[in-house]
Amino acid sequence: MDTLRSTAVTAARRAVRSEGPGRVLAAMDRLERSERLDSAVDTVRRAVRALPLGPVRDVLHGRWLGHPVHPLLVQVPIGSWLSAGVLDLLPGDRHRSARALVGVGLAAAAPAAAAGWADWAESQRPQLRVGLVHAAANLIGVALYAGSFLARVRGRTARGKVLGFAGMTVVGVGGAIGGHLAYRQALGANHAEAVPHLVPEGWQDVGDLAALPVDQPVRRHVGEVPVAAVRRPDGTVHVLADWCSHLGGPLSEGTLSDGCVRCPWHGSRFRLDDGWNVRGPATAPQPAFDTRTVDGRVQARIR
Ligand code: FES
Repeated sequence: MDTLRSTAVTAARRAVRSEGPGRVLAAMDRLERSERLDSAVDTVRRAVRALPLGPVRDVLHGRWLGHPVHPLLVQVPIGSWLSAGVLDLLPGDRHRSARALVGVGLAAAAPAAAAGWADWAESQRPQLRVGLVHAAANLIGVALYAGSFLARVRGRTARGKVLGFAGMTVVGVGGAIGGHLAYRQALGANHAEAVPHLVPEGWQDVGDLAALPVDQPVRRHVGEVPVAAVRRPDGTVHVLADWCSHLGGPLSEGTLSDGCVRCPWHGSRFRLDDGWNVRGPATAPQPAFDTRTVDGRVQARIR
């Protein structure tokens, strides 16, 4: 029986390895680990981070929306270019409409790219590598659509159509890589979303009040879920989920200022009172706990 099972498992693994999706995933995994991209990654990242964007940076992250704005913005260029492609395939003279759609797509690509670059610059090394290739593919796609637009303006419609279809192909590849970035590597997802579902209900013991240092976040646990606990000079204790909603950084290793804890990884700031994300790149607030002290023991309950 065991031999039969192991033969079946081996055959299943072989089948998975030989499938197309397996090869695509293996290529993406190699890309995540490719150190050859690192010097380009570091140069571009420094440049993006050095841009004096001020509060606009949080607008680009989508903090006002509660989730990244980049996936929303890319709908416009992709939709416009796809529509232009459909018009190019239909019989009849629709070249003016198709040209207008290609132009709309080019104009809308700029804010979409800006939001993407802002998110990319605040991500982890494997995401930075994949994200750079995603951006490079999209830049080539935009260049092809720019060529398509120019060709159409000059009356060379056939050339414009060919360049447009080439652009759509490259943008499609870029979109697939972006899908890996968002769904496999979870860039843009709320990394603290599971916390309210994992902590036990009701008041839970967090530890001795006397053992908590004043004004310094420390890691404790509610059930098995790590939390960042902060004791204030007046004896109040604040408890937030420890995994930063941005990419899971440890808030218990963060720093305090102005009633907020600053994540050590990318600098998101969360209000101690209620976990509100007052500064990005985090777009989601941090799960917060009610606290009380009973007989010198701190207790916490998910809010
Ligand atoms: S993990 Fe990125 S700001 Fe916290």
